[in-house]
Amino acid sequence: MPKVKVALIGVGNCASAFIQGIQYYAKLQKPEDRIGLRNPVLAGLSPKDIQVVAAFDVDERKVGKDLSEAIFAKPNNAPKVCDMPVTGVKVNKGPLLDGVGKSTKAFIQVSSASDANVAKVLKDAGAEVMVNLLPSGAAKASQWYAEQALAAGCAFVNTTPNFIASDAAWAKRFADAKLPVVGDDLVDQVGSTTLHKTLLKLLSDNGVRIDETYQLDVGGGTESVDTLDRTRDAKRAIKTQSVAASLPYKAEVVAGSTDYVDFLQNNRDSYFWISGVYFCNAPMKIDLKFSTVDAPNAGSVLFDVVRAMKLALGKKLKGAVTPVCAYAFKHPPQIVPLEVAKEEFSKFIA
Ligand SMILES: NC(=O)c1ccc[n+]([C@@H]2O[C@H](COP(=O)([O-])OP(=O)(O)OC[C@H]3O[C@@H](n4cnc5c(N)ncnc54)[C@H](O)[C@@H]3O)[C@@H](O)[C@H]2O)c1
Repeated sequence: MPKVKVALIGVGNCASAFIQGIQYYAKLQKPEDRIGLRNPVLAGLSPKDIQVVAAFDVDERKVGKDLSEAIFAKPNNAPKVCDMPVTGVKVNKGPLLDGVGKSTKAFIQVSSASDANVAKVLKDAGAEVMVNLLPSGAAKASQWYAEQALAAGCAFVNTTPNFIASDAAWAKRFADAKLPVVGDDLVDQVGSTTLHKTLLKLLSDNGVRIDETYQLDVGGGTESVDTLDRTRDAKRAIKTQSVAASLPYKAEVVAGSTDYVDFLQNNRDSYFWISGVYFCNAPMKIDLKFSTVDAPNAGSVLFDVVRAMKLALGKKLKGAVTPVCAYAFKHPPQIVPLEVAKEEFSKFIA
């Protein structure tokens, strides 16, 4: 069977969920056991057909370690869901650049090992798809790794909120190199942005006039520290724009991440407030709390994205692959309604 050969940039919580997910679902034989996957089989590929062939990080507790060990090293706090066999893939040291922010300095212990030749490692490992899982504030490092993907001939998946697939100049660089790129800012499987958009659409489709709404969340992963320090405003702008687009009229909309609460560990609590009026100006209000575990929320969508990228490579697509961007990212080159994004993605896969 063909495999999707993936390189992971950043062996943090999302990488942990992704790698454990491959092992977890590989053990389940019956399709009906594969609870938690949006698409058990996509483009003819199962999760067990995803193979991580290279990985890069900067933390000394991860660099030089086998992936099976590195994913459980501190400061990762994603839950352990299965025992991991030795993978044979050791974490390489990548260049630090802006990977560590003012606040995450207290969490990440930068390794003194010398930097690997990233493009060479990628080529030697036969990596086809690079998945950028750097902290959201690592804008320069994200661009540097995008350059390495170009140099090594890899498709590029940008889960961070830095603009690469949605930046016309970057999309053109990938198009010129005849490589596909998707992003930016991965959508969660059961995410607060999707839930918020779905609630607003349901209400407005039923004739409710929304006056004001917000969604704010707190989390306990290192990523929440980085967001607080470096990307709160950018994330708020992306989420607010995405949520506001689900209403056919202008309303007061705020959506964003607010704080880091260490004892939450890898959990995230999201709070929603929606206020509007319906028949004869009758008022309606929703006050809701939604709790999730952060890293597994990226797993199923990432499984879909890397398998879709294998398809894109097979079809020799180049530049931003818009049906994948719209389906799986909060800031695609073009925002479309959720149902249109799903339909376009299904057509692409078919
Ligand atoms: N559900 C989700 O968790 C979710 C959803 C959407 C988007 N994302 C995005 O995924 C990304 C990763 O999230 P996470 O929770 O895994 O973060 P994390 O902080 O747990 O992991 C980041 C990893 O990158 C490493 N790193 C830092 N600088 C580096 C460098 N220069 N080179 C190589 N590695 C470096 C860190 O040591 C750490 O291991 C974030 O940008 C986040 O916005 C996550």
